[in-house]
Amino acid sequence: MRSIYLDYNATTPIAVEVYEAMLPFLSEYFGNPSSNHRHGRICREAVEMAREQLATLLGANHDDIFFTSGGTESNNLALKGVMLREPAAAGGHLVVSAIEHPSVLEPANWLVRQGYAVTVVKCRPDGRVDPDAIAAAMRPTTRLVSIMHANNETGVLQPISQIARFCRAHGALLHTDASQSVGKTRVQVDELRVDLLTVAGHKMYAPKGVGALYVRPGVPLETVTHGAGQERGVRPGTENVASIVALGRAAKLAIDNLDHSAERMAACRDRLQRKLREAIGPRLIIHGFGVERLPNTLSVSFPDVVGGELLAHAPEVSASTGAACHSDAVEHVSGTLAAMGLAAHEARGTIRLSVGRDTTEEEVDRAAELLIGAWESRV
Ligand SMILES: Cc1ncc(COP(=O)(O)O)c(C=O)c1O
Repeated sequence: MRSIYLDYNATTPIAVEVYEAMLPFLSEYFGNPSSNHRHGRICREAVEMAREQLATLLGANHDDIFFTSGGTESNNLALKGVMLREPAAAGGHLVVSAIEHPSVLEPANWLVRQGYAVTVVKCRPDGRVDPDAIAAAMRPTTRLVSIMHANNETGVLQPISQIARFCRAHGALLHTDASQSVGKTRVQVDELRVDLLTVAGHKMYAPKGVGALYVRPGVPLETVTHGAGQERGVRPGTENVASIVALGRAAKLAIDNLDHSAERMAACRDRLQRKLREAIGPRLIIHGFGVERLPNTLSVSFPDVVGGELLAHAPEVSASTGAACHSDAVEHVSGTLAAMGLAAHEARGTIRLSVGRDTTEEEVDRAAELLIGAWESRV
């Protein structure tokens, strides 16, 4: 059976150029970057080149980039690193949104258990977090606001630079989880005006298990992992050289191809959207329609079906139900769709289709045909 992969928001394949760049660091260049001899120096230079490549993609400086094991670790480091600078008794307050990934919401819950104050801000029905709601949540003790750049389910881009204005006025720091947006759309730390920004390698054609945190100069972070001082003490542990090299190469690919690939992906996504809309009609809900979205993401709710069952009847298509899962006759609406105000019966037919740089029109047409066929037979 042929397989059509439309789940690039879950993970991307490793790009050929990225794979080729990392291979020598899995074989002949095996040194420890901290070693002061030739083997070590080759690896140190490769790590620093990757840092430069990622910094260039983000419009940041080389020294502002800290490599981590991925989006989850970067988000944990941002939230805990800022909040733990002061004891909970000092009243430190954190603001997050209800549509954040669990790798932000769970550290926030953990901070609550340590005695910190956390406010969770809802989003509007269109999937956007309202900057005024962030402003209303601010307290004199607010130390950090963490709002994702692009939502992983709907692809909706959040008004980060507007939120930054309120943060600056209140003396709070701003972190954004850009795991989904880096490599798909323009992400520049100075335009977004963020203090901290999360990158996840496997969403941008690098391997799983590598990522980075951008930290604006002068932003103090408490050490969360204690060790031998690598990554200037912010993230100790011997560097994952091959994966870091891969992330750097993936950043370079994004720099070289971003506009072209965003255009291609948007054309495929829009074609898929149009075909589904034409066949299903206005009862097909397109989440985030009419607001700024990632060019590759299409989150739709089909009427009168359960998303998982629909996909089970179109096994050629690899996509995500992501949004609503169905277990023991209990329907759980995802945090994002619930925050957008969708009821369980509206969310149940939701699937997330996310295209990639290499997705073809032919694949999109076939996927549309299969999904429409599955829906028409009302699985
Ligand atoms: C928005 C967002 N943040 C964070 C993560 C976690 O990244 P990682 O898988 O690299 O830990 C993901 C992955 O699904 C994500 O979509």
